[in-house]
Amino acid sequence: MTEPVLLRGVDELRRWRKAGETLGFVPTMGALHQGHLSLTEVAAERADRVLVSIFVNPTQFGPDEDYDRYPRTLEADMRAVREYPVDAVFVPSVEEMYPNFPEPAQVSLRVGPLFDVLDGAKRPGHFDGVCQVVAKLFNLVGPQVAVFGQKDAQQVAVIRQMVKDLNFPVEIVAAPTVRESDGLALSSRNAYLSTEQRLAAPTLYRALQDGVAAGRAEDGGPVQAVNAALQTMLSEPKLRPEYAAVVSGDTFEVVALATVGNTALLHPPVGELTLLVAAQLGDTRLIDNVQWKAK
Ligand code: PAJ
Repeated sequence: MTEPVLLRGVDELRRWRKAGETLGFVPTMGALHQGHLSLTEVAAERADRVLVSIFVNPTQFGPDEDYDRYPRTLEADMRAVREYPVDAVFVPSVEEMYPNFPEPAQVSLRVGPLFDVLDGAKRPGHFDGVCQVVAKLFNLVGPQVAVFGQKDAQQVAVIRQMVKDLNFPVEIVAAPTVRESDGLALSSRNAYLSTEQRLAAPTLYRALQDGVAAGRAEDGGPVQAVNAALQTMLSEPKLRPEYAAVVSGDTFEVVALATVGNTALLHPPVGELTLLVAAQLGDTRLIDNVQWKAK
């Protein structure tokens, strides 16, 4: 593989772009792991060149979230991408992306109520910030294809909706979740876990498997799936479950939702289903999901 070019700002990015080429884009916040890196291979299959962006986007973090302590490991990231089909790494500064920061931009994006559920409910403004930065990056980078991880299922759904509603000329591809051998989905935030918490973390994936098994059973369905997933999370004392939910893959409408002490059946299922879980482990919030073909 060739050494990727480090592009520190928008001018360098513009000079690097070539007319007529197709570009595959992988937006990230860095602290790259195999999950991020797998997305570059998916991008390379679909485009002439691949660009990864690394930008810890302040507008998608809430005031009490981990913006300040989010891992920033550019040197290691540059070494990691060498082994992958990456042609350039774009690392803009906060000043360049948001000249008035911390003042909000005068014009910004707002996601609709469909996305104010689950992670959108827990993290108010999060998906607005994600859309704001991804829209800016799409305009700066001008990719034909952009690859996102299915690990963040609600994010993929929000981005697809944004591309549709605002007519971005880019194809969105969702790539499968990369996991540790014990099932834990790779995440930059796993670095926050203590040894004991790390041992408890795969319970999230077990919850998904138990949920899918209960959902697929003879007398099962979305309600049984979310209840079983919640039960498995509750069986691990270190986990504080936030929700287990089944959503329709295409629309992201919530079909069934279980929180501690409450289960609700909301919308009829449409198309493929996704079972999602979220839990707090110490100070770290973990999310995971699996796609699930209904019977
Ligand atoms: P970040 O959390 O760095 O993730 C970058 C991309 O990697 C996302 O598309 C995410 O879904 C994907 N990813 C993370 N863990 C993965 C795993 N285990 N397997 C496969 N893919 C995985 O998501 C963001 O950054 C930001 O919100 C961003 C889109 C860059 C906007 O700021």
